[in-house]
Amino acid sequence: MKKKLVVLTGAGMSAESGIKTFRDTGGLWEEYDVMEVASIDGWRRNPTLMTEFYNQRRAQLEHAQPNRGHVALAELEEMFDVRIVTQNVDNLHERAGSTHVLHLHGELTKVRSVLDESKVQDIGYRKMEPGEKGPDGAPLRPHIVWFGEAVPLIGEAAHLVREADIFAVIGTSLNVYPAAGLVGDLRPGRPAFLIDPNEVAMTLPGFTIIREGAAKGVDTMREHLLKLI
Ligand code: APR
Repeated sequence: MKKKLVVLTGAGMSAESGIKTFRDTGGLWEEYDVMEVASIDGWRRNPTLMTEFYNQRRAQLEHAQPNRGHVALAELEEMFDVRIVTQNVDNLHERAGSTHVLHLHGELTKVRSVLDESKVQDIGYRKMEPGEKGPDGAPLRPHIVWFGEAVPLIGEAAHLVREADIFAVIGTSLNVYPAAGLVGDLRPGRPAFLIDPNEVAMTLPGFTIIREGAAKGVDTMREHLLKLI
């Protein structure tokens, strides 16, 4: 029986794939007002602006590649039962070969009916036209969890962390809840790792801190993990 390794990832995981983080210098929230382009109120005020914002990010994703960190996490599935809980809306974990990826904040390549959130469809990297309608005749919206909206998968994610034998946090500033609160679901005494070149918004007693980028840091973590099999 493989040990359960649960990994919480954020934008820093994809930084070395050329995808901007949010709160680093030069991050996305320096360029855009988050409440204009990533909140439900923003959608109600200006759905066209938000449709364009996600079209740009989706088009950029087509040309981004998983970095060594994504691939190293996928390779760890040989030794561990790896569950990725990501705040990222990109598909780089899946494209690197990870087989269990839970997207807390939605997925950039998917859209859904504004009337029925279960009516989700994959549009790949193409643009969604402003006002484009889905099969149910209702307008479509990006399948993204915006500020001001609930995080439907947070319960499932908390269950995964509670069941974890080993936990890792990679590339997230731990500024945004409820995702950041998952750290509190880890059972005491379980080995835990943080991979981040910078300080994060939470003290993490007992964590092994790996002050590296994800592309190198996951391989560094692997050396520690080999002793825990
Ligand atoms: N490797 C690993 N971590 C990195 C790297 C890298 N190469 N470069 C930067 N980082 C770290 C930063 O130090 C920071 O701690 O990644 C983190 C990025 O933090 P944020 O930009 O706040 O991104 P994230 O934590 O994922 O944001 C959470 O906020 O805007 C919302 O919904 C959005 O999912 C997002 C959520």
